[in-house]
Amino acid sequence: MKYAIIGAAGQVGQEFQKCLPEDCVIALTHEGIDIANGDAVCDRLAQVEADVIVNLAAYHDVNGCEEDGRKAFDVNALGALHVARAAKSQGAKVVFFSSDYVFGEQHDRSTPYLESDLVGPVNVYGASKSAGEQLVRLATDDHLVVRSSSLFGVVTSRKGWTFPEMILSRAESGDPLRVVNDQIMSPTYTLDLVQAVISLVEAGHVGTYHLTNGDGCTWYDFATSTLAIAGVDYPIEPVDSSAFPGKARRPAYSRMDSERLHGENVPQMRHWREALEAYLIEKGVVKAS
Ligand SMILES: NC(=O)c1ccc[n+]([C@@H]2O[C@H](COP(=O)([O-])OP(=O)(O)OC[C@H]3O[C@@H](n4cnc5c(N)ncnc54)[C@H](OP(=O)(O)O)[C@@H]3O)[C@@H](O)[C@H]2O)c1
Repeated sequence: MKYAIIGAAGQVGQEFQKCLPEDCVIALTHEGIDIANGDAVCDRLAQVEADVIVNLAAYHDVNGCEEDGRKAFDVNALGALHVARAAKSQGAKVVFFSSDYVFGEQHDRSTPYLESDLVGPVNVYGASKSAGEQLVRLATDDHLVVRSSSLFGVVTSRKGWTFPEMILSRAESGDPLRVVNDQIMSPTYTLDLVQAVISLVEAGHVGTYHLTNGDGCTWYDFATSTLAIAGVDYPIEPVDSSAFPGKARRPAYSRMDSERLHGENVPQMRHWREALEAYLIEKGVVKAS
């Protein structure tokens, strides 16, 4: 099966390239395709003749999306539509990556969001992703909409670091560490995410899936676990979100679970702490026991 990866230079795009045989991947970077440009998307994707088109391209600066709603919707919603329509016209499956930020409106929520829950974003980024999902569903039945969250992996995005890496490096340099303790989410290892997506594609599944590592935690829990697994003794001050004001509202609870994956004959997602340990081993921060 041939996979065209849009957003190939990004964090998840590079993970796909690690996980798939080289001759199965057509890597499309932002320089080669701009998904906001519908005509260019059609032309470029017609040239590559892929069986599966994975759309990882996103404008995901959450505060930036509040200021530039047009760009958020041009890339995350209309861009998703352009790619899904091009996939349909070529008889290819489309995989659209979405986010836990399509949820968050239920302030008193304390149980994980499932695929059957209604969306309710609290910021422009989440609204643009939610619109993108719906446009993909309208464009083609042969789609996977994959919702994931709080990604970490050995290959980093253009910003050059992941959350655990940032925590470790600040502890090493002796910088004070203050981490938000009132947002609950599902940290997810990009290796586990990409392997789950490939399994779903290869098994011919369609529809919406929540693909996150198991259970959930606050960013503070995630930070303290990172230091504990790495064997670093360093203080972290738990703080409220108000300590880091930004333009965008953030969900207090966006933990997700899957009611669909458990019934499928595909590998299940492990607990986030186990995934974090595997990541720190893969990075060479801790030794495998
Ligand atoms: N990172 C997370 O924690 C997280 C959580 C939930 C969901 N997701 C979703 O997962 C997907 C992959 O995320 P990621 O972390 O791999 O992001 P990433 O590292 O920023 O990669 C995204 C890639 O898309 C490219 N891109 C941006 N706009 C584009 C456009 N208009 N046309 C074509 N390419 C474009 C970017 O290129 P430039 O850098 O050159 O612009 C970048 O290489 C995204 O859809 C994101 O919304 C991510």
